[in-house]
Amino acid sequence: MQAYQIRNEVYWVGAIDWSLRTFHGYATERGSTYNAYLIIDEKITLIDNVKEHLGDEMMARIASIIDPSKIEVIISNHGEPDHSGSLLALLKKAPHAKVYASTPNGIRILNAIYGEFPIVPVKNGDELNIGKRTLKFIHAPMVHWPDSMVTYDALDRILFSNDAFGQHFATSKRWDSEVDLATALFEAKKYYANIVIPYSAQANRLLTGVKTLGAEIIAPSHGIIWKDHLTEIVGLYDYLTTSQKQEKAVVVYDTMWESTFKMAVALTEAFKDAGIPVTLYDVKTTEISDIMTDLADAKYLAVGSSTISNGMLSPIAGFLNYLREMAPTQLRYIAFGSYGWGGQSIQMIDEQLESMGYERLVPKIRINFVPRPNDLLQIRESVLEALKK
Ligand SMILES: [Fe+2]
Ligand SMILES: [Fe+2]
Repeated sequence: MQAYQIRNEVYWVGAIDWSLRTFHGYATERGSTYNAYLIIDEKITLIDNVKEHLGDEMMARIASIIDPSKIEVIISNHGEPDHSGSLLALLKKAPHAKVYASTPNGIRILNAIYGEFPIVPVKNGDELNIGKRTLKFIHAPMVHWPDSMVTYDALDRILFSNDAFGQHFATSKRWDSEVDLATALFEAKKYYANIVIPYSAQANRLLTGVKTLGAEIIAPSHGIIWKDHLTEIVGLYDYLTTSQKQEKAVVVYDTMWESTFKMAVALTEAFKDAGIPVTLYDVKTTEISDIMTDLADAKYLAVGSSTISNGMLSPIAGFLNYLREMAPTQLRYIAFGSYGWGGQSIQMIDEQLESMGYERLVPKIRINFVPRPNDLLQIRESVLEALKK
């Protein structure tokens, strides 16, 4: 286990989680990394750490450069256990190290998770001299926890951005120039759409601050490090944090006996015929986090479920719950579905989407048992008509 040099005296000493496939319901098909960074200065400094079960990997990478007991400064940009899980193990190896975290939330969260121990409070804008370098701390509350902050090393021009600009992307490569750029940007978008999106206003404020720093490297706490493609990642965050929308539609459904499926196909065809790119997702066979990535910059959403007993099919209920958590903005929606009797699912979907603040594109579409060709034609016509307005 070796450290990976990213600047003269700055090393990546993180851990690669090749087998991670879910992160709180977010499907991480490419695994992830937890990035920790070691700075060799008068005060040896470690920025963030890794999940508890990968602590030995981090420790071995640190030991390839320096005896871990020599660490004097441990910066905790964010207390979530994927970046703080090895903190107690580290303090055992480096008992004289001081831990720095944002005040009040970073301290409160670390003490709540790991018990009481001394933590140096860091206010927004505080600086810490570690020798040749002065580290500057910038609070980034709710990007994506209340304690989140980023650390800037002006000498090396590195922004240690923690979760911002991250991607769940396990790879043996560390630099953006060493991997397929489209894949890295897709994973950055997926990360944003499934973690950061509810806090887009806060992320936009952070981005505005980041632009004034003159960073040459953005070193997040997950995935590859940005250097040669700063323009692209900052451009992506510019785009996502301002909630820009494409003429694009997403149709999500679950079906019992294919009637709701036929309606979903009719809606998909209607968007296509209106010249709007559209993707149809069977919620049972698609990860919700992939649907959310598509939805982050879409203008239109259609959600359909057959009625089962007096409600909707549970995969659609799960999708709506996830949608409410992520809360992408400015969607125009369609609720649809088939039913035998009752038909409550369509009403429930319609009410839920309305309560999320979305605008109804057409009145809810209900079909009793089986849609006839004429019903499907009518669905298409009503959508095409609404899209003209
Ligand atoms: Fe986090
Ligand atoms: Fe994280």
